[in-house]
Amino acid sequence: MEKNIAVIKGDGIGPEIVTEAMKVLDAVAKKYNHKFNYTEILMGGCSIDAYGVPLSDEALKIAKKSDSVLLGAIGGNTTTSPWYKLEPSLRPEAGLLKIRKELGLFANLRPAYLYDELKGACPLKEELTEGGFDMMIMRELTGGLYFGERSTEKEGDQMVAHDSMSYSESEIRRIAKRGFDIAMKRNKKVTSVDKANVLDTSRLWRKVVEEVAKEYPEVTLEHMLVDNCAMQLVRDPKQFDVILTENMFGDILSDEASMVTGSIGMLSSASLREDSFGMYEPSHGSAPDIAGQNIANPIATILSAAMMLRYSFDLDQEAKDVEDAIEKVLKEGYRTTDIMSEGKTLVGTREMGDLIVSHL
Ligand code: NAD
Ligand code: IPM
Ligand code: MN
Repeated sequence: MEKNIAVIKGDGIGPEIVTEAMKVLDAVAKKYNHKFNYTEILMGGCSIDAYGVPLSDEALKIAKKSDSVLLGAIGGNTTTSPWYKLEPSLRPEAGLLKIRKELGLFANLRPAYLYDELKGACPLKEELTEGGFDMMIMRELTGGLYFGERSTEKEGDQMVAHDSMSYSESEIRRIAKRGFDIAMKRNKKVTSVDKANVLDTSRLWRKVVEEVAKEYPEVTLEHMLVDNCAMQLVRDPKQFDVILTENMFGDILSDEASMVTGSIGMLSSASLREDSFGMYEPSHGSAPDIAGQNIANPIATILSAAMMLRYSFDLDQEAKDVEDAIEKVLKEGYRTTDIMSEGKTLVGTREMGDLIVSHL
């Protein structure tokens, strides 16, 4: 199989972790006789420095023509980096929002899974995670507050900022269907998370999710308010199978869920639409505090590459090989600093990538 992959290394730890994911993809290609052609494009701060915009038309065109996109992370320190002195539409994150919208990637899958081997890195009491947990956060990715109108204006004698949130029935319906489809292949439970006790968008969300649920009689649906969900994730993470939620709630809850798996460095993601195209990226950011030190955990990015093999290229066995290789390396006791615990062997970003490749 031959595939064209647009690669966005991005900023901060982005280049380090993407390099490891590409090593793994190359090893898979060699083993199974596939060909992955990479075209590197710039997005985020590095694109601002080179072209003055966080995503150029050319870069977007290359992404659109490719079979999938592999992304590291973009952005810098939001208080000290000069990128954050630019007007909002020219900052690194604007590139990421634009590529998601332009590519139509409305469904963001963020699987949070506790590896047996990482129990020592999980901050929860052992009895809460016995038997592990395995949830899929389905985050709506191209609507809501992120894409509403915004402004900051003088009103009277002070500045007032506005962000508006809207969701249409069709936007809710397509992500809900995706959530129920995924639940059918898993434990057949959907927890739809909203703030229906306050927000109109949430009340519409709940109504549409109820309608979609009628098409999936085998799936158990429950509704949960987002504040309660944030609490339940650390009280009893085992209760969740699929968490279905809007854009910003999903952003926040997925970072929280990542920590109960041991580290944000473990949480992968796939951003999908109706066809097989997808963009694959870790859920974490560019971690400017640890960039360039060969200490970032590349596993979230490598797991995201495995999701690319599965969801965009239909290469299930290859994806499983990568996931198994990661599990073996963890079983052997190798850890990056973020998942390090007593008695384990500390390795760097490159070494972790090499170890995973050695098991393929
Ligand atoms: P972050 O996720 O970059 O970092 C939060 C903390 O987690 C930091 O202490 C960091 O060192 C640690 N961390 C993150 N990934 C890690 C890894 N792979 N291994 C080990 N430790 C890891 O979040 P932040 O600091 O709030 O944001 C930094 C920048 O990243 C901001 O500019 C933000 O906008 C951007 N960001 C980008 C994306 C993306 O590109 N998809 C996602 C989130 C944040
Ligand atoms: C993520 C990030 C992005 C988001 C930022 C960088 C715009 O936090 O992918 O989780 O909020 O979607
Ligand atoms: Mn986030």
